[in-house]
Amino acid sequence: MDKAVAALLLSVGLHSLGAAALDNGLAITPQMGWDTWNSFACSLNETVILDAAKKIVSLGFRDLGYEYVVLDDCWSAGRNSSGYLVPNKEKFPNGISDLADKIHASGLKIGIYSSAGTMTCARYAGSLGYEEKDAAVWASWGIDYLKYDNCYNQGEEGTPKLSFDRYNKMGKALNVTGRPILYSLCNWGVDGPWNFAPTIANSWRTSGDLSNVWDREDVNCPCQEKEGIDCKLPGYHCSVMNVLNKAVYYPSKAIPGAWNDLDMLQVGNGGLTDEEAKAHFSLRAALKSPPLMTNVMTKTDAPTLSILQNTAVLAVSQDPLGSSANRIWRYYVDDVDSNGKGEIQLFSGPLSGGDQLALFLNAGSEDRNMNASLVDIFWEDGADGTAQQIGYSWDIHDLWANRMSNETANAIINGMASGSNGTMNMTAMGGARKVYSQVPLPSSSKELMGSKVGSVKASGTVTAHVKAHGVAMLRLRQQNNKDEL
Ligand code: GLA
Repeated sequence: MDKAVAALLLSVGLHSLGAAALDNGLAITPQMGWDTWNSFACSLNETVILDAAKKIVSLGFRDLGYEYVVLDDCWSAGRNSSGYLVPNKEKFPNGISDLADKIHASGLKIGIYSSAGTMTCARYAGSLGYEEKDAAVWASWGIDYLKYDNCYNQGEEGTPKLSFDRYNKMGKALNVTGRPILYSLCNWGVDGPWNFAPTIANSWRTSGDLSNVWDREDVNCPCQEKEGIDCKLPGYHCSVMNVLNKAVYYPSKAIPGAWNDLDMLQVGNGGLTDEEAKAHFSLRAALKSPPLMTNVMTKTDAPTLSILQNTAVLAVSQDPLGSSANRIWRYYVDDVDSNGKGEIQLFSGPLSGGDQLALFLNAGSEDRNMNASLVDIFWEDGADGTAQQIGYSWDIHDLWANRMSNETANAIINGMASGSNGTMNMTAMGGARKVYSQVPLPSSSKELMGSKVGSVKASGTVTAHVKAHGVAMLRLRQQNNKDEL
């Protein structure tokens, strides 16, 4: 059997092969892009969006796969006398159809937002009862993506069936248009969308809105991780750790075309330290949460650019196998943060070409050495699979080892990408993007593999030094894997 197919069977389990995600052919790997909400909220307009799009192209984000530019809430001015949504004229003087043309002309795609309720969360016209009209008008404008929220839903939730029916209406309406429109559910995990959404949507939010903070007690996001999965309130102001700890229970629900969405990225928005932002970005890649940037593109600084453009991490997010990492273990530690919390976790999962991801998370307040046995790293392979995998020796690659230097990032930001640094760098990015879809990946490509930092012998232990509030993101490759050459 072909190795890639064998790995796929192993990772998704035979039972799920028959299950198809929404059959629109989209989001075969987690969708990538940029959304207006976290930085602009209701102050979005044509200029903000076109300026962002320009930067997404000129800074090289588009060529790495960040392709959707999503207009979040507050774009509309209500409905016309025929019941069709109309854009706000002050914000979009040339209309959204014209904006869509411009976005398409720059090689990007355009997304829009609404709510499966009578109003959106910012109290603009919602789509409940208007599904077909709204889908039709968006398709006529050239829209490629819908983020569909849950506000003012008239109480039509509380059972998975009620939520499914309400969201399915829009899914069907989008399909009727005949235009491929990526369908991103935003119902904050209510009624367990990981169970009802995979057949009708390309992604679903797993919990309430993510705040720009690593970890914090917040009365608005009352469900703490120790309470497990029985939390009824989706919450908002949820921290990176809170959202993560709610989302670790259903990695197997993520399959190509249908992804768990842990909410948009907060990289570059000021609330996270560099180490925390790297960890946040890495964990999203490991869990296959769609990477949607939200930073002010025109003010992108070097550290932000080099995190969002780490091709070795993006290759995990966009890995052709589409298999979400599992949390293998979690322990509480003594060095706690101001909330009295500190914990360490191990995530692992298969990557294409027979590689394996091992990600150590140190959410304690002190740097530490962390280690995991190969048995733990291959725990999800089942007894026979684990026994086989731990019999091999593996090379260990650190996916953050070749993070772009500030000098190179600044050369790109300052438009000097045609110099030696910039040219080299952009070429490398193009190459990296191409190999996302190849199995196996060439180990010679540092942009994909990071740097080799060691190896582990059969039945051995993998060790990494992990900074506080940080991760070590490692890619293991079998030493006898001849396919890589
Ligand atoms: C909800 C969503 C956010 C954003 C806002 C817009 O809170 O979860 O992502 O779209 O609405 O009002």
